[in-house]
Amino acid sequence: MTLHLPDIESLTDDNIKMILDKAHDFAENGFKQTLKGKIIFNLFLEDSTRTRMSFEVAAKRLGADVVNFNSGSSSMKKGESDTDTFQTLNAYAPDALIIRSSDYNAPRFAMTQFDCPVINAGDSWRAHPSQALLDALTLQRHFGHDLTDKTIAICGDIAHSRVARSNYELLSRLGLTIHIIAPELLMPKPTEFQAAKRFTSMDEGLKGVDAVMMLRIQKERMNEGFSGDDHDFFIDYGLTQDRLSLCNTESVVLHPGPMNRGVEIADDVADDPKRSLILNQVTNGIPTRMAILDTLIIGSS
Ligand code: CP
Repeated sequence: MTLHLPDIESLTDDNIKMILDKAHDFAENGFKQTLKGKIIFNLFLEDSTRTRMSFEVAAKRLGADVVNFNSGSSSMKKGESDTDTFQTLNAYAPDALIIRSSDYNAPRFAMTQFDCPVINAGDSWRAHPSQALLDALTLQRHFGHDLTDKTIAICGDIAHSRVARSNYELLSRLGLTIHIIAPELLMPKPTEFQAAKRFTSMDEGLKGVDAVMMLRIQKERMNEGFSGDDHDFFIDYGLTQDRLSLCNTESVVLHPGPMNRGVEIADDVADDPKRSLILNQVTNGIPTRMAILDTLIIGSS
């Protein structure tokens, strides 16, 4: 049966362990060209730097050939539907499809149109599973495999964040305690994040946490745009060194990127050589995405 990665919920605990163990192995012991001769389609219908580049690098490090699809210069611009585009691409028989889209659940629709594994590289505000897996790898490489005594605060625009949703699902399954911190306007519905402790005050929510994950305000996903002022947001919710000092002394800072410095995070926090793991997250994107590709393509062929 073909294994896809539309979201963290689709993975069993064994799947998660296999991917993270493989990612640790790739990060620490190197890798072989297990995907030589395979062809991977990189279909990014929404902007990306980190996810698109790191999936491409990961695939090439494992020996696969990558074909990038640029929607801006494709026949989608002439009105071709998603269905016809997907069926056309599937007729080229790729070994995997990586898809990013602003459309809700686009990867699950792609799963009905492609015969190969489909990997979600971020859809709408719903899910970004490879980001959550690389964040878990980053925390495990820093704190050790067992994260069950750790608390993480996920802060900022939770309501519109696919990163927050996938991290909530994965990190709670790995046993972490989760705080979410946001103004009421950017809090998710009460039916979501049910096991997380909710705070509207950074000073309250940061007390005693081991890791802080800051999020960008996702203005492009707000129907009416964000009416708040960036400077006011920074005053109330920006992560500064003073706020970081409320966390545990060895606490670390994460951010999926792209960052808006001076809005959700101060420069000296983002660049703090002792506390910031932000570039470690970027680096860990490669072994994590190698592990995803290797598991889905080799495991399902
Ligand atoms: N974290 C993340 O998804 O970044 P990109 O949008 O640059 O891929």
